[in-house]
Amino acid sequence: MRSVTLLNIYDHPITQKYVRRSGMAHAISVAYHAFHLAKEYHINPDSAAKAGFLHDIGHYEWYRNGEWDYDDYREYDIHPIKGAERAHKLLVRLGEDKRVAKEISHAVLFHTDSALPKGDFQLSTLQHIVHLADEKDKQPGNTHHYRAIDKEKERSLVMELDQKIEALFQKQQMTRKG
Ligand SMILES: [Fe+2]
Ligand SMILES: [Fe+2]
Repeated sequence: MRSVTLLNIYDHPITQKYVRRSGMAHAISVAYHAFHLAKEYHINPDSAAKAGFLHDIGHYEWYRNGEWDYDDYREYDIHPIKGAERAHKLLVRLGEDKRVAKEISHAVLFHTDSALPKGDFQLSTLQHIVHLADEKDKQPGNTHHYRAIDKEKERSLVMELDQKIEALFQKQQMTRKG
């Protein structure tokens, strides 16, 4: 049993405020990509989906009146840093295991190098996957941040991904027992 589901995260007002700002459709889509990549790379699909879902929760200042200022963004961006902290706070508040919350927070921090010093980082598989998942959903002109779907569809996609994660965990448990 997972102590926190994607639906718990989706329904939280902090998610609705900050994840919606950078695009709920983008967040859900990156969560799905991260889930599939986690299966491929044999890592925990739950942490991957959560990190994918929360990766852009740190966006803020350059978003004004519903529009993004990408000049400001390039100059001043720290969204991975802000996002890592926000995601961690939210997960801990919801009752997530603190080790998992730390791993997810790190994956948010390293999903892009826009706020990191120059250099080569040795990324963990989870961090690498979240970066790849984000890249998979990017669209020309950054339009992925504007893509929208209706809220009922959002919720049902989130619940569907929760079910996929549960099903995978059950299957893994059966294999272990068998
Ligand atoms: Fe990002
Ligand atoms: Fe993104």
